[in-house]
Amino acid sequence: MNNTQLQKTIERYFAAGPDAIGDEAAMTAFLVLRTALENGEVRAASPDAASPSGWRVNPWVKQGILLGFRLGLLKEFFADGLSFVDKSTYPVRHFNAGDGVRVVPGGSSVRAGAYVARGVVCMPPMYINAGAWVDEGTMVDSHALVGSCAQIGRHVHLSAAAQIGGVLEPVNASPVVIEDDVLVGGNCGVYEGTVVKKGAVLAAGTILTRGTPVFDLVNGTILRASGELPLVIPENAVVVPGSRAVAVGKGHENSREWGLSLYAPVIVKYRDDKTDLSTALEELLR
Ligand SMILES: CC(C)(COP(=O)(O)OP(=O)(O)OC[C@H]1O[C@@H](n2cnc3c(N)ncnc32)[C@H](O)[C@@H]1OP(=O)(O)O)[C@@H](O)C(=O)NCCC(=O)NCCS
Repeated sequence: MNNTQLQKTIERYFAAGPDAIGDEAAMTAFLVLRTALENGEVRAASPDAASPSGWRVNPWVKQGILLGFRLGLLKEFFADGLSFVDKSTYPVRHFNAGDGVRVVPGGSSVRAGAYVARGVVCMPPMYINAGAWVDEGTMVDSHALVGSCAQIGRHVHLSAAAQIGGVLEPVNASPVVIEDDVLVGGNCGVYEGTVVKKGAVLAAGTILTRGTPVFDLVNGTILRASGELPLVIPENAVVVPGSRAVAVGKGHENSREWGLSLYAPVIVKYRDDKTDLSTALEELLR
């Protein structure tokens, strides 16, 4: 089955709703998709120079992943004395030394249907959900989450507790994209289809959602998501968590009542030699 046939089949069984439950052909189509996702032959979003964000979403992939939840039954999984109960369609992936992926023991899981390239390092505990793509040489540090269908490029550093949102819950149409050579600092959160372009740096604690305006001090512009376009962080931008005064009502700084500020991510500069030094990765860890 080629990818076009697979797409059509998945779309048909997704549209069939509960009627697909128990249908062996539906399960086969789902398993073909799951394997294609793991092999990196199918992606939830693909690079597309013609699109304003540089990415094209493949919505049928998410439909296929949801189909897997519909078709799966609860099943017990056992591992070293621990037991787990989850959907039969998403067991834990197993790697061997030949796969070139280092998974350090301790509370980490890569769900079936996730693509994890050679040279990726997964520090415990961390989680990579179905449909995610994690490319070569990327570090997924402790307590980091790669949400469903999120696309993570090459040589990305997802620092401790960085959270990359998925598309399943709450329901989101577009996967988050983190392009090559991005550093996502500790405790960052990137959600709701945000695209972080190549080489950008998110300082520790930066949170980006579809509704978050980002203030570019260098260019004097405010970046926002609009319509079909997600929030896009430009190439090599260095984003730090800041705040901005509330301008209305009791929140106004001069109102002498509440004097509130709102969280505001700020692009303080574009990557320079100092940033390269601050974000240098340790090759020995890879
Ligand atoms: C963003 C970061 C990489 C620094 O980059 P840099 O290019 O060296 O930045 P600079 O030190 O030149 O700072 C540029 C400006 O941003 C400000 N800034 C830098 N980091 C900041 C931060 N985290 N929060 C708020 N402001 C910050 C600086 O004060 C400076 O502004 P100023 O010139 O007005 O003083 C660093 O702050 C950071 O967050 N690193 C990630 C740490 C981390 O999460 N490690 C993971 C461990 S698992």
